[in-house]
Amino acid sequence: MRTRRAALTAIAGAASLALTLSACGQSGEGGSEQETGSAKGGTIGIAMPTKSSERWIADGNNVVKDLKSKGYETKLVFGEDDPENQVSQIENLITQGVKALIVAAIDNKSLNGVLQQAKEANIPVIAYDRLILGTENVDYYASFDNEKVGELQASYIVDKLGLKDGKGPFNIELFAGSNDDNNTKYFFNGAMSVLQPYIDSKKLVVKSGQTKLTQVTTLRWDGATAQRRMDDILTGSYKSGRVDAVLSPYDGISIGILSALKSDGYGSGSKKLPVLTGQDAELASVKSIIAGQQTMTVYKDTRELAKVASNMVDASLNGKKPEINDDKTYDNGSKVIPAYLLKPVSVDKTNYKEILVDGGYYTEGDLK
Ligand code: GAL
Repeated sequence: MRTRRAALTAIAGAASLALTLSACGQSGEGGSEQETGSAKGGTIGIAMPTKSSERWIADGNNVVKDLKSKGYETKLVFGEDDPENQVSQIENLITQGVKALIVAAIDNKSLNGVLQQAKEANIPVIAYDRLILGTENVDYYASFDNEKVGELQASYIVDKLGLKDGKGPFNIELFAGSNDDNNTKYFFNGAMSVLQPYIDSKKLVVKSGQTKLTQVTTLRWDGATAQRRMDDILTGSYKSGRVDAVLSPYDGISIGILSALKSDGYGSGSKKLPVLTGQDAELASVKSIIAGQQTMTVYKDTRELAKVASNMVDASLNGKKPEINDDKTYDNGSKVIPAYLLKPVSVDKTNYKEILVDGGYYTEGDLK
C-alpha cells in the first residue's frame, strides 16, 4: 500500500495530490485496492472511472472509508477511462463474490451485460454519480442535482456579465462534457435553461455558431480535447472581438480552455480573461480561481456522496429501503431509478474559504 501511495504521489509530480487526498478526508489507507477489515458485512465492489482526475480518487477512498466503518471489506478498482476495461473489472468483482456494487460508469451504455450477471448473482447495484442507462439492473442512484449544476454555472455568468441589468451584448462559447456520460445533458440543459433567453435576445452571442449539445461535447471530459476546440474557435471566430464568457462543465476542461485562452494572449495586457466556469473544486482550479484566472467552480462534496452510496449499500444488504429524495427525474430508459441527490454549491474567490477551507475539504496549505 505504501508503495502505491508513493507511486501516486510521484505521478502527481508533487505533493499536491497527496495533500488533496488527505484534505478530502483521506487517511491514505483508502487507496488500497484490496482493503481488509471486518468481514461482518462481506465485500463490496467499487468501480471508479479513472485516476486521472483527483475527484474520483477521493470518491473511491471516501467510499472505502465509509464502508469499512460499517464493517464491510472493499475492493476498489479504477477503469482508466476505458469502457471495456471497466466491464472486465466488474466481471472480476462479481466472480470474486462481492455482495454489492457501487459503479461510476465510464460509458453509460456499456454495462448492461455485466449488470445482468450481477442481477443473476443477486448483487444490488448503486449507480454512483453517473446514471447507468438501458438496464433494469440498477437499484439506486446516488448523485447531485445535476441540472442545478448547470444552472449555477450559467447564473454565475449572467450575474458576472450584468445581463440582468441590461448590459451586453457579450460573446460566449459553450462546452459540454462527454457524450457517453448521462450527466452531460443535465448539466448542459440546466445551463441552457438560463442562457437561452439571452442568446435569443442577442445579448449573448455564440460567434462559433456551435450551440447544440452534439457540437460542444468533450469526449471523456478530456482537457486537451477542450483546449484544441477552444484553439480552433479562437482562430476561426475571433479574428475580431473577444470572448467574454465560457461555459465549461468541469474543472479539467476549464484548465484546457484556459491554456488556449492564454496562448491567444488573454490574461495579459488589455485582453481580460473571460468569465470561466467549472465543476468539482479540483485543486488546480481552486488555485486558479484564487489567482483570478478560472472564475468559479461548482463544488460537490465527495465525502457526502460517498456516505449516501455506502448507506444505500448497507440498507439494501439489510433488507431496508435506502433513503431517497427523488423518484421522478432519472429514467434510465428501462425504469425510473430511485435517487438521492445532494446539493451542489457555487464557489468563487469570495466564498472558497468559507466553503472549502472551513468545510474541511482543503486546508489553507493545500491552496498555496
Ligand atoms: C461527471 C461528474 C462531474 C465530473 C465529470 C468528469 O460525471 O458528475 O462532477 O467529475 O464527470 O469527471
